[in-house]
Amino acid sequence: MRILGIESSCDETGVALVDASGSGVPRLLGHALHSQIEMHQAYGGVVPELASRDHIRRVLPLTDAVLAQAGLGLDAIDAIACTRGPGLAGALLVGTGVAHALGVALGRPVHGVHHLEGHLLSPFLSADPPSFPFVALLVSGGHTQLMRVDGVGRYALLGETIDDAAGEAFDKSAKLLGLGYPGGPALSRLAEHGDPAAYKFPRPLLHSGDLDFSFAGLKTAVLTQVKRLARAAPEGPATSHLADPLSPQEKADVAAGAQAAIVDVLVKKSLAALQATGLRRLVVAGGVGANARLREQLNAQAARQGLRVHYPELALCTDNGAMIALAAGLRAQAGLLDGAEATGRFDVAPRWPLALVE
Ligand code: KG4
Ligand code: ZN
Repeated sequence: MRILGIESSCDETGVALVDASGSGVPRLLGHALHSQIEMHQAYGGVVPELASRDHIRRVLPLTDAVLAQAGLGLDAIDAIACTRGPGLAGALLVGTGVAHALGVALGRPVHGVHHLEGHLLSPFLSADPPSFPFVALLVSGGHTQLMRVDGVGRYALLGETIDDAAGEAFDKSAKLLGLGYPGGPALSRLAEHGDPAAYKFPRPLLHSGDLDFSFAGLKTAVLTQVKRLARAAPEGPATSHLADPLSPQEKADVAAGAQAAIVDVLVKKSLAALQATGLRRLVVAGGVGANARLREQLNAQAARQGLRVHYPELALCTDNGAMIALAAGLRAQAGLLDGAEATGRFDVAPRWPLALVE
């Protein structure tokens, strides 16, 4: 059973083909990705209309590339999976529309996959795949959630952010420091040269006793710190014309402090979720899962407490088609695909809680 997966929920067009025959973990036969980051950089964030138009341009050439990698033709595809949500409505419609058009043309079923289910299952494609049950820390640009995962389609929400997502906190802090979009990778690179203890940043809800997060206050704290440093910068003709009065070291220190605050909360709450559920296995998925400090701290805690932490391969941390094809493959193996034939009628789900997926 070969499944083509199409991801188009935000600013990456991803296509992949997996072989989900048998009961082993589905095997990746090919995958291709186009990131729109460069296109959106000029605007400091994702422009939804531009994202949709670019998905239209990319999705078929990427599909051709994937089939060429696998040495197969369109007729080798047994089913098609696409991201149905959550995400940008227009962007989701492109991938979903193409998936259904292919389904009708080839006479194959089409399955709408939850984007976060893709992220959550993506470590199954790594060299060190997890086994159920586990706690999942989902940290992307739009979501920060802790889920209890008992099997494919068995997801229970343990806690989530009450305002900004962790990725958003990275992106907004980075923007305040004049770094490009997306801010997470840039901020984390800058933080390598900074002192995380140079300035104090809040760790909201750290001791709240529940598994919820709050990151909206962090950007205010970063803004306040940046303004304080800017005021303290020496006035005069040599610097007054500069738009950026912070020294490189001050910027690196702010970046390191903001990153440490986000990571501390993520680590503490993940460990609390393991303790609350009695589970000993953590899966980290979503773009922020690529963060080196987060990985370091989780690995250190895991070694100390005898816990296991699983991550997707770095290339599959951010959005991609492989995780969508994989999720559909695992659902098929678990008997959770309904096998609906494509009729040409479809919808998308821009807002769709993962806990509703069964
Ligand atoms: O999962 P993802 O690719 O897209 C969504 O579904 O949102 O996550 C994107 C987010 C962005 O906020 C980006 O800044 C963040 O992941 N990110 C990182 C790193 N790489 C990506 N944040 C911190 N450190 C990184 N190395
Ligand atoms: Zn994502």
